[in-house]
This record gives sequence, structure tokens and C-alpha cells, in this order.
Amino acid sequence: MRAGTRSRAFMRPEHRKANLESWDERVPIHLRSRLYDVEGFITGGSRLRPFELDEMGGVSGRRVAHLQCHIGLDTLSLAREGAMVTGLDFSPAAINAARDLAIRTGIKADFVVGDVLEAASILEGPFDIVYTGLGAICWIDDLARWSRQIADLLEPGGMLYLVEFHPLTDIFSDESLEVTDSYFDDGRAFRDESSGTYADPDAVTEKNVSYSWTHPISAVITHLIAAGFSIDGFREHDFTLFPRFGNLVNDHDDIHRFPEGHPRLPLMYSLRAMRT
Ligand SMILES: C[S@@+](CC[C@H](N)C(=O)[O-])C[C@H]1O[C@@H](n2cnc3c(N)ncnc32)[C@H](O)[C@@H]1O
Repeated sequence: MRAGTRSRAFMRPEHRKANLESWDERVPIHLRSRLYDVEGFITGGSRLRPFELDEMGGVSGRRVAHLQCHIGLDTLSLAREGAMVTGLDFSPAAINAARDLAIRTGIKADFVVGDVLEAASILEGPFDIVYTGLGAICWIDDLARWSRQIADLLEPGGMLYLVEFHPLTDIFSDESLEVTDSYFDDGRAFRDESSGTYADPDAVTEKNVSYSWTHPISAVITHLIAAGFSIDGFREHDFTLFPRFGNLVNDHDDIHRFPEGHPRLPLMYSLRAMRT
């Protein structure tokens, strides 16, 4: 949900501080939310969507870094699929929750507190796969540096798998498809002042200011190529994982689509890039 104003360009310390405070406060809310269904996860199963595993081509036995891992459910799901995983997130509250979940589920995974823009000097690589996305890239202001960090984490021939909400969806208002925002934001931050969270919009929260960025897909691809990646696969999806618009239909699991007969629009994308 986007309610706010455009502000300055590259991240300043107060942007990062606001984002960190906001994420730290939302961790306990997410831990008890239906959307994350932590208790269900503890009893077994994977949180990864089948298309992700198909597109990644199998993770068993691979060394995987999960950037911006949040409370670690996807990280631990990768481990349940047989990967050797390390999750990284700048929120100490998120990493503490992830470590606790690893203990409660008996799953082996490492979790590290750190900024994604310093990931290559924090994590002990190299890795075969970097996995990231689902509401991650919008918190990064500097895609050139982000791409270089990922390249430095990977073995030559290693793969980035990025799955994200489509930036086109940022241009529309929440309740209708009225265009209210620019697809090309020239690097300006979006200042959001919404309370609650996507996992519980009614939750009472105090740290409500956050800053995010819309990254056109061409920008993502261009920066990855400049960092030495070749794009190996790219798909746009007509579904998303949360009720981004009021008229989306939740047909099964956490998949939300426009109803039958409604024009189909891209709601997510996924990308495979190989480090050359
Ligand atoms: C929506 S979550 C990531 C999606 C994850 N797949 C999930 O839903 O569980 C966004 C995460 O990015 C983290 N984050 C934001 N900015 C970051 C930064 N600069 N460095 C590292 N982590 C960051 C937040 O703490 C949060 O846990």
C-alpha cells in the first residue's frame, strides 16, 4: 500500500534509520500474522512458491545466500529443500526471530545482521546462488552497488534469482487502476507514512515513516549487466502474493489475480542472471 509523497534521491542516514526502525517494529507483528503463518511453518512444509523452485532449477546441495531474509521463513524453506543457506538482513529483530525459528524447527541455517549494500564484505562466500526479492529491492537506493555486491558474493557461473513485485503496480492507486504515480521516479525516494503493515494493515504501529524506491525493470537489468551478469531468464507474472488491489481474487494458496475477464497486467516478475 502506498500512501505518501516523493522526496529526495539517494539514501541518507535518516532514511536508513527510519526504515530500520519501521522493520524492527513490524517483526513481532509479522510473527503472529496469518500471512506469515509461523506456526504452520513450524509444523512442516515450504514457503517457497512452486514457480520459484522450478525457475531456480533445484537448490539441493547448493550454497545459497538469501539477501533481505526478514524473519527467515523463505531462508529456512530453502534449507528444507536441501540448500546450505545463509540469510542476511539489517534488522536485528528479524534476524533474532529467524535464528529462533531455526532452533524451533531444527533446521540448519546461518543468519547474519548486515546491510545488503555491504553483503559481500559481511558474508563468507562464495555462493552458488543468491536468492532475494518479494518486497526487497524497493528498499535499495543504489542498484549499481547492489548488483556489484551480488556479483562479488557469487562463484563465477553462479546465479542470482530475483523474484519481485512488478514496479508497474507502483503507479496505480490502491483501490483502482487510476494512474497516480510515475513509473520513472529518477531515483527519488517515496516517503510512506502508513501505519500497520501488509501482513496486518490494522496493527497499531508507531514507526510509520519509511522510504522506498521504484526500480523500472530496465534499470535492474542494466545494472546487473554492468556488474557482469548475463540475463538467463525473465518472466512477468499475472499474479501476486497479496491483495495489492481490491478486486484481486485469491484463487489458491497465496496467489492473487485479477478476476476472469479483467485485463491481465503484470503483477510480479522473476529473473535469473548468471555471473560471468
Ligand atoms: C518484505 S521483507 C523481504 C521479503 C521476504 N521475502 C519476506 O517477506 O519475508 C524486506 C526486508 O528487507 C530488509 N531490509 C530493508 N533494507 C535493508 C538493507 N538496506 N539491508 C538489509 N536488509 C534490509 C528489512 O529488514 C526486511 O526484513
